[in-house]
Amino acid sequence: MTSSSAPGLVFKGPPKNCPHCPRLAEFRTENRRNFPTWHNNPVPAFGPMDARLLVVGLAPGLRGANCTGRPFTGDYAGQLLYPSLLKYGLARGNYDAVADDGLDLVDCRITNAVRCVPPANKPTPREQKACRDFLVAEIAAMPRLRSILVLGRIAHEATIATLGLRKAAYPFGHGTTHRIDGKPSVTDSYHCSRYNLNTRVLTEPMFHAALERAIAAT
Ligand code: URA
Repeated sequence: MTSSSAPGLVFKGPPKNCPHCPRLAEFRTENRRNFPTWHNNPVPAFGPMDARLLVVGLAPGLRGANCTGRPFTGDYAGQLLYPSLLKYGLARGNYDAVADDGLDLVDCRITNAVRCVPPANKPTPREQKACRDFLVAEIAAMPRLRSILVLGRIAHEATIATLGLRKAAYPFGHGTTHRIDGKPSVTDSYHCSRYNLNTRVLTEPMFHAALERAIAAT
């Protein structure tokens, strides 16, 4: 699975039948049987490799990204993420919750800390670690990357580890921008999940404020 946007910028994501996480591979097989028309493969990142902003989510949702094959597409979280990207000029077109809605990302790319759908939306620590090499390779292959917006604590920790930093030195804090010498800056947001939005742990203005900080760091 490759993705590119400018000649020479190629990142190779996990293969269709990635074997790294036995539990996720088993879940994938089960989903292929139960939902044969769905994507049911590792979900590739979306957006240009030469983007300055990278959004890192947790993992594909079962009935959303795992079904449509595009991060956050068809997921509850996408109902806030994509309109927000449109509002700030980081996307062009209409978000219609399907992969062929014609939406384009502008100077922005979206990826996940874990690329296969996990049961109950919860990747284990071992699965988070097993998928990290893909994030390492993806970030290394983005030549203009300046700023990373992480959605939730797991994406934060995956990104901090990916950048070779100690998690104790960069604690998660919603709205915090970690400026790191020689590396892209990392801005934290609570994940825009249904639970966080319904409980108002995260509100739309809070999310927009975090996104604005991440944009300011590009
Ligand atoms: N939530 C995420 O973190 N990523 C997705 O791709 C979909 C929902």
